[in-house]
Amino acid sequence: MQRIIAPSLLSADFLNLGSELEMINRSKAQWVHCDIMDGHFVPNLTFGFPLLKQIRTKTTKVLDVHLMITNAEQYINAYAEAGADILTLHWEAVQHLHRAIQSIKSLNMKAGVSLNPHTPVAVLEEILPYTDMVLLMSVNPGYGGQSFIPTTIEKIIKLNEMRKKLNPACLIQIDGGVNKSNARALFDAGVNVLVAGNAVFSSSDPVREIEDLLTS
Ligand code: DX5
Ligand code: ZN
Repeated sequence: MQRIIAPSLLSADFLNLGSELEMINRSKAQWVHCDIMDGHFVPNLTFGFPLLKQIRTKTTKVLDVHLMITNAEQYINAYAEAGADILTLHWEAVQHLHRAIQSIKSLNMKAGVSLNPHTPVAVLEEILPYTDMVLLMSVNPGYGGQSFIPTTIEKIIKLNEMRKKLNPACLIQIDGGVNKSNARALFDAGVNVLVAGNAVFSSSDPVREIEDLLTS
């Protein structure tokens, strides 16, 4: 099964973002994860299009954009123009998810759907066949450095069963509290993509940390 590490820039040193991105370029991480927060859907704010476009010019990795914003449909074009390769929307924040996924795909991006910890995977039944990736939040979205919610493992196992029936090519991504102590269990449960913020950027050797997560 495909294994991917996506370091989350939320925990990076933003005053030295160029060198953080170079570190990711040198590492075995295949993706770089950008968290976009609007202060409405989640109680925090991050960054907008100018910075995302600059990140695009520096990274050689797949640009994985996680929108934690309301009215996400309004911005799909703008994220394509900014250079996103994968655009993930929250199930809880989008009224017309099927339409939004079609728009994302028509702009040659991959479409992800994310669920908050309290949202059951059963809500995905009708949309899974159209989805390139499901992102299960394993913390409440908004902040880096939180503890992994242990019941996420059962949720992954349920989603993996749904995936087998409805869309075997769909990737499963986990975001929040991922580190070396749980990476192996996550891959074993069926995860393809691990997002890691604090684990990578608080490490004294982030390149090594990424490799350790990948080979857990
Ligand atoms: C939280 C974000 C995450 C965050 C994860 O809402 O979606 O991507 O950066 O950070 P860690 O890995 O530190 O839990
Ligand atoms: Zn994220």
